[in-house]
Amino acid sequence: MTQVKMTVNGKAASGEVEGRTLLVHFLRDDLELTGTHVGCDTSQCGACVVHVNGNAVKACTMFAVEADGAEVETIEGQAAEDGTLNTIQQAFQDHHGLQCGFCTPGMVMSAAALLKDNPKPSEAEVRHYLDGNICRCTGYHNIVKAIMAASGQDVSALAAE
Ligand code: FES
Ligand code: FES
Repeated sequence: MTQVKMTVNGKAASGEVEGRTLLVHFLRDDLELTGTHVGCDTSQCGACVVHVNGNAVKACTMFAVEADGAEVETIEGQAAEDGTLNTIQQAFQDHHGLQCGFCTPGMVMSAAALLKDNPKPSEAEVRHYLDGNICRCTGYHNIVKAIMAASGQDVSALAAE
């Protein structure tokens, strides 16, 4: 077992992990941050996306020991302390960007990474960026719309699905 320490959503976190423990399992099982989901065992679905040192990462592709000392952000850190949703979360709600919600934490974290690097993405750029996030419910259209709305762009020309 190895001791790991990291900052998760601005707070110090630590635990004892096996070398094979994935970051997603450390977050969910040890830190009880179960908003980061596991939707596959093939690194395809993106339900597990978190930020590690500011970069979007599929937390099922990284060992917890690799995140030792890192700054990690999960979906639990996105809303304000009083529960007020952040701009992206609110846009998902306003534009019906979710149905079952299973993919939503990963979608929101991916969207946050996209908008950090590209504050006004085109529809094509949003769709391209979401290539690593699978949604089994929505057909993606309203997710794309929500992300573009969160970037402050007029989405009235994008028809609702
Ligand atoms: S659980 Fe990580 S990509 Fe599916
Ligand atoms: S809303 Fe159900 S998987 Fe995306």
